[in-house]
Amino acid sequence: MTNSKEIIIMKLRNYIIQKFNNFKTLNLKNITAIAFKDHILSQLSTVDAEIEGYRSNELEWQRDLSIKYHWGHNHDFGTFRLDGRMGDRHIDLLANFITFFPIDITDFRDKNIFDIGCWTGGTTLTLAALGGKVHATEEVKKYASTVDFLIRSFGLESHVSIENKSIYECNSLDYHDRFDIVYFPGVIYHLSDPVLSLRILFNSLSIGGVLLVESAGIDHEEPYCRFDGNFVYHTGTREELNRGGWNWFLPSPSALGRMMKEAGFDEIETIWDEGSKRVYGYGKKTKEVGICKAGLSVSDIK
Ligand SMILES: C[S@@+](CC[C@H](N)C(=O)[O-])C[C@H]1O[C@@H](n2cnc3c(N)ncnc32)[C@H](O)[C@@H]1O
Repeated sequence: MTNSKEIIIMKLRNYIIQKFNNFKTLNLKNITAIAFKDHILSQLSTVDAEIEGYRSNELEWQRDLSIKYHWGHNHDFGTFRLDGRMGDRHIDLLANFITFFPIDITDFRDKNIFDIGCWTGGTTLTLAALGGKVHATEEVKKYASTVDFLIRSFGLESHVSIENKSIYECNSLDYHDRFDIVYFPGVIYHLSDPVLSLRILFNSLSIGGVLLVESAGIDHEEPYCRFDGNFVYHTGTREELNRGGWNWFLPSPSALGRMMKEAGFDEIETIWDEGSKRVYGYGKKTKEVGICKAGLSVSDIK
């Protein structure tokens, strides 16, 4: 990377961090700092599969982070600090998207943004800090309820909302043509049907809307995917419920680009980022287009 690119990323990061710093206990609206901290800390490391709807005979096949509560992104609340499994990704991702693609830091202001798979809300709060009207969705109930708690505690109800849904459930008419930006980092490789997910998100955008997607992937020229599946994990242990993995398809940049094209996107750009060793993608919905339904796992899709 050139020196000037590094300086731009550093400046962007500092700007985003400064905005994210609005979310300190000093700025709580509807709860005392002590009650806020007690509630958050009471969640950490709790093990609760029942709340997610898993039966006891299904447990050994489930993701650890669906069962055991792990904090997602680093957050310095001022009176206490949490280190998350995702580190500072919420900051780095935005700085990277803005550096790699034709999107500016000011482009999030007043935009309707769909934040997919937000974990404990680091990405949601960051997008809100940039002035976005954010609707987040998260398939794990315990994290969605944390994000709801953060929204209420910081008094963000007028422009931030969360629902506990899988992306596959965001396919009904009320999602269609609704968003200006879909923010989709860190999720697509966790999905068994990446093309369907992209089509659902394509449908959720209004014309002119933009998809920002990031994924674990492979650095390969050809449009290939690596398949890991859920028996492969890269860190931690199964017993301690602290492992990282459960990846289905890990695309190369051109494979991700082809999936996006299949889903209907235009003006597609995909790149391999050597710094994070991940794939980044940008695409626009320039017009309504159909999709080939042969073999698609859901047939009643627009
Ligand atoms: C690796 S984390 C990424 C968090 C954040 N988006 C980021 O990029 O830093 C993946 C998140 O997506 C959620 N997730 C996985 N599959 C999902 C699905 N089908 N629908 C909605 N959320 C999902 C997980 O529960 C988890 O919170």
